[in-house]
Amino acid sequence: METMSRETGSRKIIVEQTDGEATEFAAVLFQSIVCESVAQKGACCVALSGGTTPHMLYHRLARSVVQDEVPWSSVDVFFGDERDVPQDDVESNYHTVQRALLDHVPIPPGRVHVMCADADDLDAAAVEYERTIREVVKTDGGKTPRFDLILLGMGADGHTASLFPALRKTLDEQKKLVTAHFVPVLGRSRMTFTLPLINAARNVIILVTGADKAGAVAAVLGEDKDASATLPVAGVRPSDGRLFFILDASAAREAGLKAKE
Ligand code: 6PG
Repeated sequence: METMSRETGSRKIIVEQTDGEATEFAAVLFQSIVCESVAQKGACCVALSGGTTPHMLYHRLARSVVQDEVPWSSVDVFFGDERDVPQDDVESNYHTVQRALLDHVPIPPGRVHVMCADADDLDAAAVEYERTIREVVKTDGGKTPRFDLILLGMGADGHTASLFPALRKTLDEQKKLVTAHFVPVLGRSRMTFTLPLINAARNVIILVTGADKAGAVAAVLGEDKDASATLPVAGVRPSDGRLFFILDASAAREAGLKAKE
């Protein structure tokens, strides 16, 4: 495992040969973070990602061998972003996670906190979701709630959660923890965590696989500060937490990073 440290916090880059091996690494890490948090505090707050990359991870986490060892009943599940569709829509991140994971593990329904990204008043819904986060997720004496684990993916354009390039207002948000906005490139609205909330986390996992992401991975991990500055995922720099970039060889190939032998 190649470890690269940054001026604040630490970033670990893990490259596995295949998407399955990268998913397995992420599952074991996810499990260890949850178990450690529950052992220390009796609880764990996680935020899950949408998209297709984590499907395999959710199915893996739902399997009995992990389920029996994960204290799911002490876990609060949030969502890092959501689409403007009903919760039973196949496009909904909640729907994806529910089918792949939540239907198979004993998380109490009251500990699954769904983003209402199809509300008529999206701004009010974002304020309400932020209130719930502030109620459930502890701040450790600081001003921002600190998730024990935030799982993120990355698009080929370097977006993460629903923080998209060129949406400077959302990317530069420093006060709100959750915002909702229209995303021109999608022609749809999204609700999303902001960078201050993401960067307050104790652990952030960014799971990226596939050759289509190789260009963005090379840009965000490369030395070209200008290139990475335009990519939202480059803004993920936990101020006092650990960042794990978990890649497969295809996604890492343009960054000159080789899979572990
Ligand atoms: C979403 C995700 C988004 C996703 C990336 C990568 O709601 O779609 O939160 O940020 O992680 O778009 O998506 P894939 O995993 O499908 O490539």
